[in-house]
Amino acid sequence: MAETKKLLRALSGETMDVPPVWLMRQAGRYLPEYRATRAEAGDFLSLCYNSELAAEVTLQPIRRYGFDAAILFADILLLPQALGAELWFETGEGPRMSTITGPEGLKALKGKDDIHDHMAPVYETCRILARELPKETTLIGFAGAPWTVATYMIAGRGTKDQAPAHALRTEDEATFAALIDLLTDATIEYLSKQVEAGCEVVKIFDSWAGSLKGEAFDKYAMEPARRIIAEMKARHPGLPCIAFPREAGDKYIGFAKATGADCVALDNSVSAEWAVENVQKDGCVQGNMDPKLMVTGGQALIDETRRIKEAFSKGPHIFNLGHGITPDADPENVTVMLEALRA
Ligand code: CP3
Repeated sequence: MAETKKLLRALSGETMDVPPVWLMRQAGRYLPEYRATRAEAGDFLSLCYNSELAAEVTLQPIRRYGFDAAILFADILLLPQALGAELWFETGEGPRMSTITGPEGLKALKGKDDIHDHMAPVYETCRILARELPKETTLIGFAGAPWTVATYMIAGRGTKDQAPAHALRTEDEATFAALIDLLTDATIEYLSKQVEAGCEVVKIFDSWAGSLKGEAFDKYAMEPARRIIAEMKARHPGLPCIAFPREAGDKYIGFAKATGADCVALDNSVSAEWAVENVQKDGCVQGNMDPKLMVTGGQALIDETRRIKEAFSKGPHIFNLGHGITPDADPENVTVMLEALRA
């Protein structure tokens, strides 16, 4: 049977007059109904592990805007927590974790197959969503890429330049590489269960890929993505995979071919014209409007939506932002963007 979901059609390489659309962080703090549900759950992590409420916040932006895809509500840092790392969120600051500074820290972690009891509520969220989403909406599961997740596990928090992770990589590469391997294997197990629970696409978020250069990028951004995608496709034939090596720059060129990704998500530091020539020639791309326009709105938002749609219109494209929508975005601007896109 021919595929009818727009997102899956784009992922299989179809060019459409109006591209499918969803937004990174579409369930989030810019929505009053999200803030209300998070308050009901207590805090962010309690919301992630409350299947009913996590499904509810996943559905909220679908009801409000009719996006073509819903992304599972969870976080990339739940996986290290399932592996035994401590995780908490400092209000107004972001994530905090126990740190891994050498071989002892690595040894204290659980094995790749020991994560599923901890993750059971996340899989239940997927099952609820598979039942409750409108039939035209695609359910996207996700995980962080090993490198990005490792940067948080090594530093114990978000860092501007990922210096602690780079230091471990150069000073104790054996420990660093073993951590990347464990995360790669655990990510495969985690994503496989998401797919078994109803996710139709998986996305790998490598938010800090851009700080790996040259060979280090090939070894720790490209190779783990290749390994995850190859194993996911072996276990789940035909499963579409999206990779987001944020700020990869020239390393976006050939990334889809090298990793087997069906779609590469583009950040907004690359121009659409460059991406059409260098990345979209190999297949579907996703992106890449500046998230700031969702805050500032106006004619500039309408013009930029039309410009990006037009620029990518000769090949497969999923309209999205270049990074997550921010808490100060105006929900009305999402409607303005969708009207400009779908007109
Ligand atoms: O996109 C979605 O709507 C799905 C859910 C999702 C969240 N985080 C929910 C979330 C996804 C896909 C993520 C990915 C994620 N998480 C990434 C990769 C993508 C990116 O943005 O670069 C990273 C690096 C994280 C780690 C993380 N989680 C940080 C650094 C923070 C704090 C900063 C912030 O934005 O608050 C979070 C918290 C987080 N994850 C929130 C949400 C909705 C905000 C928490 C809250 O409600 O207070």
